[in-house]
Amino acid sequence: GAAAAVIYNLPGEDGPVNGTVRKPSRIPVVGPTHELGAALAKAAKRKGGLTLRVKTDTVHGKRSASNVIADTERGRGDNVVLLGAHLDSVKDGPGINDNATGSAALLAIAGKIGKLRRGDLRNRVRFAWWGAEEEGLRGSTHYVESLDRRDRDAIALNLNFDMLGSRNGTRGVYDGDHSTRAGTRAPAGSGAIEKMFRDYFKGRRLPTTESSLNGRSDYGPFAEHGIPVGGMDTGADGVKTAAEAKAFGGRAGKAYDPCYHSACDRLKNVHLRFLDTNVDGIAHVTQHLARTTVAVNG
Ligand code: PHE
Ligand code: ZN
Ligand code: ZN
Ligand code: ZN
Repeated sequence: GAAAAVIYNLPGEDGPVNGTVRKPSRIPVVGPTHELGAALAKAAKRKGGLTLRVKTDTVHGKRSASNVIADTERGRGDNVVLLGAHLDSVKDGPGINDNATGSAALLAIAGKIGKLRRGDLRNRVRFAWWGAEEEGLRGSTHYVESLDRRDRDAIALNLNFDMLGSRNGTRGVYDGDHSTRAGTRAPAGSGAIEKMFRDYFKGRRLPTTESSLNGRSDYGPFAEHGIPVGGMDTGADGVKTAAEAKAFGGRAGKAYDPCYHSACDRLKNVHLRFLDTNVDGIAHVTQHLARTTVAVNG
């Protein structure tokens, strides 16, 4: 049977907020936490919708950052499929590709996941919009490290989405069967997640490449705790190779995202068709994992 809802325990947490979002006690570092909350509140009112909780915690100095967490009501609480995307941006830009794209992908899926039938939503799906990623993965690190053993063990896997519509990008699927950092292997099960994404896009004749797990986004703290990770990105400040330009179009020798961390990271900076097909893949893999995590957990 399903365990009791398992979220996370912060000192001074705001608690369950079904349908309403309380103001965080301090001003968030960056990120439209309240607008997101309103959209989620709407989704939560639908049948089979979401249980919404907002947590606020001071994660650096006198400023605070919020993680916004939404759980499906249904599904096994001891086998949680956790989707994450950072909601904050850098001070120098509006952060539309980095990372409104990943945040919007989660919101789109969260708004529809309640439509899955009981047998198709066997595992609880949790959506996490992290704060303070740009300050050094602070929101996600805080989350993982504040969980007790049981709550951490309940997380079957983490899918992370950071920069899904880079204008000169590639379709990078996190490389779950090689290294995270030099010498570190991705946790067992990560390769199976990589394959789910790659198989989906192969079926649509859309090219993919491997994005190496270098620890520069919010899957890092999960991988460090041995939790299988997966996800996608379309490239950041790296430079497109000739082979990549051949496979994906765009310009070799130029950055994947020409507006990375700058003022021009606006809606016009997003490759919308890229984003659209990527969200299709994310929805597909999420739906699959909501039904079964057997391939991941062995
Ligand atoms: N996490 C980085 C950011 O938000 C983006 C990035 C991911 C850069 C992976 C390099 C590799 O800015
Ligand atoms: Zn960034
Ligand atoms: Zn980012
Ligand atoms: Zn691989």
